[in-house]
Parts: sequence; structure tokens; C-alpha cells
Amino acid sequence: MSKNIAILPGDGIGVEIVAEACKLLDCLRDDFGLQVETDEALIGGSAYDATGTPLPDATLELCREADAILLGAVGGPKWEPLDYSVRPERGLLGLRAELDLFANLRPAILYPQLAEASSLKADIVAGLDILIVRELTGGIYFGQPRGVEELPDGQKRGYNTLVYSTAEIERIGRVAFETAQKRGKRLCSVDKANVLEVTELWRDVMTGLAGDYPDVELSHMYVDNAAMQLVRAPKQFDVMVTTNMFGDILSDCAAMLTGSIGMLPSASLNAENCGMYEPIHGSAPDIAGQGVANPLATLLSVAMMLRYSLGEAELAARIDRAVSAVLDQGLRTGDIMSDGMRQVGTAEMGDAVVAALRADAG
Ligand code: IPM
Ligand code: MG
Repeated sequence: MSKNIAILPGDGIGVEIVAEACKLLDCLRDDFGLQVETDEALIGGSAYDATGTPLPDATLELCREADAILLGAVGGPKWEPLDYSVRPERGLLGLRAELDLFANLRPAILYPQLAEASSLKADIVAGLDILIVRELTGGIYFGQPRGVEELPDGQKRGYNTLVYSTAEIERIGRVAFETAQKRGKRLCSVDKANVLEVTELWRDVMTGLAGDYPDVELSHMYVDNAAMQLVRAPKQFDVMVTTNMFGDILSDCAAMLTGSIGMLPSASLNAENCGMYEPIHGSAPDIAGQGVANPLATLLSVAMMLRYSLGEAELAARIDRAVSAVLDQGLRTGDIMSDGMRQVGTAEMGDAVVAALRADAG
């Protein structure tokens, strides 16, 4: 039975990188028998320009009915003056909330070919394979009350609320423990329990869950230390689980260990494993429209989609191999360029991955 994929290119380089993902999906359909249909919809700033809202009803409907969603990126300086309620980011956050995509999986894997592209020494990152499990629909991103108010003395006061319930912590905790069971069986829960009561609760709930997963070794770390350890000795980690905002920050940090944020895919899943897949980088307005963005994080997001939402683990592995083959050929976009390699643009990189996929099929 054919599966439906909602395609949301979004803004900036989102348009260019998602075009490469569509080429990849076409190839999987034509040459590998993947039965998928795709429908495109607007999100973010481009949706605001066309409809006055960053998450039009039609987009939400399409996503609700889809088996999986592929998203490029949202945002850009053009929309920064807008009110928060209609900023491009609200489209993405709205989609996460509406579809209850609470579990965000962000793998940081170093391709051996890119050890030189990392800003850390090659031996510190060689063999790196971390998975960050970020809570995605709660915490300070969504907590109420929030806002900026005028005070009688003419000053302003801005506030956001960091809030988590036991149930919210438990469900992300279970995803993290189960993910750790399938990997290296080590889980590090990251919090700020020395200062924030809500993350003391987070720590207690994680500790309580550990009894259900005796084969997983649970540890706890404060977020400031975790940030330091990520750049000091990143290979000590297997799976990390943390709150929405800490996960946002730590995953950008982990991304750089792999050479470029342009390499990192992500999956955002709900309880039914319906998922949204997106590169973790943003819309990169500085290079948008130039055809130089790295499409690999988006192509690897397609691989995650095949694995988690479409039950096509074998095809997913083929994409991973094709990306590796292209790196072996010495092709690099600007963000991962190093001496002796050949610099290519977005489309050439996408074409090369499709060609490698076909070659692998014989
Ligand atoms: C991410 C991004 C988003 C976030 C932005 C674009 C709203 O930084 O997916 O990491 O903060 O979650
Ligand atoms: Mg981020």
C-alpha cells in the first residue's frame, strides 16, 4: 500500500535541500519499488507571505493525514520584525505541538571521511556515535505564562515558564531508555537539578524509570558539565536525554563535532511513530538561493523516515551507504570542504548520492 509523505520545504535553503530529497524519493520509487506519494505544502515565512499564517490549515490537514513529513527549514531575517505569534518558527513549533511529536531523536555520527572537518582533533571525534533524545513539545518552549509586559515605571518585564509534568518526563524517558537498549545501553540524563526544581523532578522520574530497564546504565549530568564534556570527551556518551531547550543547545554543539551541522538529520516522533523528519540546521539565509548548501542532513533525514515511519530499514541503510560512498569519492560541499577534496554544490551532491544509490543496486 502506498504511503503518503507531506513535503514542507519552508524557507531559505529549505527549498534547495528538499529538492534533493525529492530526487532521492523519485529514485527510490522508480528503481527500488518504494510505494510513496508526495504532496507539497507551505510552512514558515513563505506560508506567512502567501496566507498570513506560518502554519496554514491546509498544511496541518495534509500533515495529519500523512504517514510521514519531510521538512526543510523555516525562518529568516525578513520575518524577524513580525509578532511572535506569526513568526516562521511558530509554524514549526505549532506542527510539533499539534501532532504531539514529543520525541526528537538527533544522532551525531562522525563519518570517518570527515574527521578532518571537525573543529576538534581527529582522535577525539573518531568513531563518534551519539544519540540525543530531546523532549520536543514541553518545557520552556511551550510553558505558560509567557510574554513581555509593560510595568508602571515604564520598564518592561519578559518571562517564560519552564514546566514539566511527571507524565511528560516519563514518556520521553521511556523512549530514551528503549533507544539505549537498542544501542550501547548507556543513558545520560541531562538536567540542572542543582538549581531548577523542575529538573530535580526530571531527575527523580528518570531514576524511577531505571528499574524497568535493568540492562541500561543510567547516569545524570548537569547541563553545563554536559556541554563541556561534549567538547572534551564526546565519545563517553551513548544516548543523552534532556529537556526541550537543553536539547536544542546540546544538539547544535554535538553537530559541530561531526564536522558540520549540515550533516545532522533528525526525527520527531509521536506515540504512534508518525514522524516529522528534518535536518537540524536552520534556513541559513546567508547562503540561501546560491545552490551551495549541504543537502546531506536532509537526505539522511529521508533515511531516518524510511527506518522509523515507513518500515524500510534496508533502503535506509542503502542511503547511509550511498552518502558514505559519495564522501569516499571526495565530494564536499563548502561546509565540509578540506584540502584535496572536490567542492560541489547542492544539486551535484544530491545527484551524486542518487548515482551512488543506483550503483550500489548494481
Ligand atoms: C531546532 C531549531 C528550532 C528549535 C527553531 C527553528 C524553532 O533550532 O529544531 O533545533 O529551536 O527547536
Ligand atoms: Mg536548534
